[in-house]
Amino acid sequence: MNQKNYFIIGGTGGIGQAIVKQLVQLTNHKQQGGARTVIFATYHTSQPDFTADNLHWLPMDVSDESSIEQATTHIKQQTAHIDWVINCVGLLHTPNNQPEKALRQLETDFFLQNMQINALASLLIAKHIKPLLATSERSADKPAVFATISARVGSISDNQLGGWYSYRMSKAALNMGMKNLSIEWSRSLKDVCVVVMQPGTVNTRLSSPFQGNVADENLFSPAYSAERLLQVLHSMTVAQSGSFVDWAGESIPW
Ligand SMILES: NC(=O)c1ccc[n+]([C@@H]2O[C@H](COP(=O)([O-])OP(=O)(O)OC[C@H]3O[C@@H](n4cnc5c(N)ncnc54)[C@H](OP(=O)(O)O)[C@@H]3O)[C@@H](O)[C@H]2O)c1
Repeated sequence: MNQKNYFIIGGTGGIGQAIVKQLVQLTNHKQQGGARTVIFATYHTSQPDFTADNLHWLPMDVSDESSIEQATTHIKQQTAHIDWVINCVGLLHTPNNQPEKALRQLETDFFLQNMQINALASLLIAKHIKPLLATSERSADKPAVFATISARVGSISDNQLGGWYSYRMSKAALNMGMKNLSIEWSRSLKDVCVVVMQPGTVNTRLSSPFQGNVADENLFSPAYSAERLLQVLHSMTVAQSGSFVDWAGESIPW
């Protein structure tokens, strides 16, 4: 199988788009060496202008299972396998809601929206993409990848500040879901590395209202974060499935 296929969900976000662009560059390098790489990337509200020969844009709303199913069905019509899945979708604030500073700000709809987009979506994507991961060429040393961008604030033991109930709880739930999935797939879908990742504090729309106290040297560009995350994923073996790691590959306590 001389073709590596990537599936990037949320390819229009700050980090997602940087990952897509770096994979396209990788594609150009690989093509010089004869191997072929194809990238399937999803957009939500509007399809971006960015194009490349081996880049296929698909619409997907991760809060709608039928939309996830349609996107994966479309991919199945194009290819028999996917090697890497990276879910870069996330929600922290909306035009109507900011993350909670105190319990009195908690609102059911916003809480459920966080759970749906940040936690449930990765499980639904896994459910529908499994047949395409099952046909990827992989080994314990070079596993297929199912990665989701989580957040350090989803760590229960690392929680020093409180606040952000909906976001923190949805990321903690995501982490549990992916840990569970890693256990199920270690039995039913060998040699797939399931990981959740902290990308650093990255200069994107999601973090922009909260960058005030972040020193310049600690605020990553999306390109830098994407490069580090891809490096970490390239070095993963199946023994690291079920882990929570940061952009440097350091383990984060649950
Ligand atoms: N930036 C940071 O400092 C930071 C730190 C820790 C963790 N993270 C995590 O990193 C990931 C990427 O965040 P980012 O910083 O790149 O944020 P971003 O630039 O705001 O990107 C978020 C992406 O999610 C998409 N999205 C939102 N709702 C969606 C839905 N229902 N269906 C499909 N796509 C949807 C957005 O598309 P539309 O705009 O079209 O809706 C956008 O492409 C998130 O999981 C975030 O929690 C970020």
